Amino acid sequence: MEIIVTETLDSLGAAAADLVLAQVRTKPSTVLGVATGSSPLPVYEHLALAGADFSAVTCFALDEYVGLPAEHEQSYANIVRHRVAEPLGITPENTHVPRASEDNSLDGGDYEDLIRLAGGIDLQVLGIGRNGHLAFNEPGSTFDSRTRVIPLTLDSRKANARFFSSLDNVPTHAITQGLGTIMEARHLLVVVSGIAKATAVRSAVDGPVIEEVPASILQTHPNVTMVLDEAAASLLSSTHAR
Ligand code: GLP
Repeated sequence: MEIIVTETLDSLGAAAADLVLAQVRTKPSTVLGVATGSSPLPVYEHLALAGADFSAVTCFALDEYVGLPAEHEQSYANIVRHRVAEPLGITPENTHVPRASEDNSLDGGDYEDLIRLAGGIDLQVLGIGRNGHLAFNEPGSTFDSRTRVIPLTLDSRKANARFFSSLDNVPTHAITQGLGTIMEARHLLVVVSGIAKATAVRSAVDGPVIEEVPASILQTHPNVTMVLDEAAASLLSSTHAR
């Protein structure tokens, strides 16, 4: 695992954006996995400023709340459209977000088929949740899990309550790519910022590989680049190159 530590959130965005740009220059028809959350936003902002050609890129979101209409301000469909696809010039036809029905009966296999048909994900942008989740794979998710509907932990709902008018309005379920799905991406670009993530980052990088810490699975992927700000990296052991 390569670990890059940057001074600020803005420099984190610039460093991660450079890696995405290198990928898209090498392969204009890159299949890009995109994460929501606040840490990756500066990455998309830097990408938009770079003015590169994303017209042949296809993007797949990691996850989505269950029960929010796609037009809802906080739906990941809306965030991917407004913060990623439109600013970068990724076409609506090439922009995919998983969607579950209200009764949670969706077979995530349809979404996985779409990813497979596109040739698999070349570069997956990822964040890490405060409780160590990846996408919405909450602690205890199996390492071979696939795209499915999952109940959100109270901790994740509380962490995301800042985006809603109250905790009660935060959805209770999400549809998420599984850990097994994410591990099939050829390159994982993990971006994490802020002191609130320092414990989760330490567990993911230095702790045992256990399903109670979903992000610890990253240690077993052959091609991971982690871009952290100083605060998120602050509890890492000094053996990691900075
Ligand atoms: C949400 C998303 C995750 C993301 C996490 C961390 O829970 N489902 O995919 O990694 O937020 O986001 P942030 O970067 O805002 O802390």
